[in-house]
Amino acid sequence: MYIFSNLAISLDGKIATPNRKHLPLGTPLDRKQMHVLRRKTDAILMGATSLRAFRRFCRADGKKGSQPANIILSSRLEGISPRWPFFQDASVRRILFVTSVVTPARARQFEKTSELVTLRPPRKGSGKDPIALQVVRELEMRGISRLLVEGGGGVMWDFVEQDLIDEFHVTLTPWIIGGKDSPTLVDGAGFTSGDLLKLQLAGVRRVRDELYLVYRRRRGNLQRKR
Ligand SMILES: NC(=O)c1ccc[n+]([C@@H]2O[C@H](COP(=O)([O-])OP(=O)(O)OC[C@H]3O[C@@H](n4cnc5c(N)ncnc54)[C@H](OP(=O)(O)O)[C@@H]3O)[C@@H](O)[C@H]2O)c1
Repeated sequence: MYIFSNLAISLDGKIATPNRKHLPLGTPLDRKQMHVLRRKTDAILMGATSLRAFRRFCRADGKKGSQPANIILSSRLEGISPRWPFFQDASVRRILFVTSVVTPARARQFEKTSELVTLRPPRKGSGKDPIALQVVRELEMRGISRLLVEGGGGVMWDFVEQDLIDEFHVTLTPWIIGGKDSPTLVDGAGFTSGDLLKLQLAGVRRVRDELYLVYRRRRGNLQRKR
């Protein structure tokens, strides 16, 4: 599977304010670029907090054929309503990855509009079955070969930790958000041992106050940074 990501960040690396409300950081040109990328994918993946902020289906404007499937990761589907616009269009495909803690009653609320896939808990200490790898395997079995990860920082970490992202698209915008609790491009536990993910700059484009950056992975990405 080819996996790419696309997020807009503030100058200080944040993707939203601490209250995690939906906040488009980029200009209309950034949103246009977002649709260019969305047209190239079979599926768009988001964390549940991003869905709780956005509530709508992520479409690819101008895409020929079917819209990309929308994929959501959530442990228990709490704080998500089946009445949101995200769930209203019967013609689009939704897959919700959940864990075994979701109650059957809660799951049933979403089964009419979405496919639910239950993830196995990763085997502790063995490094086996990380969530992002399970997601990729399940999507491949469903014919998805290009996946666009649109954040937020929580799910970005799931994929970055496993070095699964081939291409990072990052729009650097001229805002400062600040705040230690504001989500960033990649959150989660973070690397601790000094093994950081090193990427290769593959593209820079400046349009007025924004920089459109593309970074690509290289083999053996995890490198010791001293
Ligand atoms: N600037 C941008 O381009 C951009 C792009 C996307 C999002 N955003 C913003 O970013 C904010 C959200 O980012 P975030 O980092 O707080 O959250 P997030 O990554 O969108 O979602 C995190 C949630 O995803 C679920 N999740 C993640 N990993 C999981 C796993 N391994 N197993 C089960 N569930 C898992 C959990 O949902 P449950 O809590 O349901 O268990 C978790 O709380 C929002 O404000 C959004 O508007 C900005």
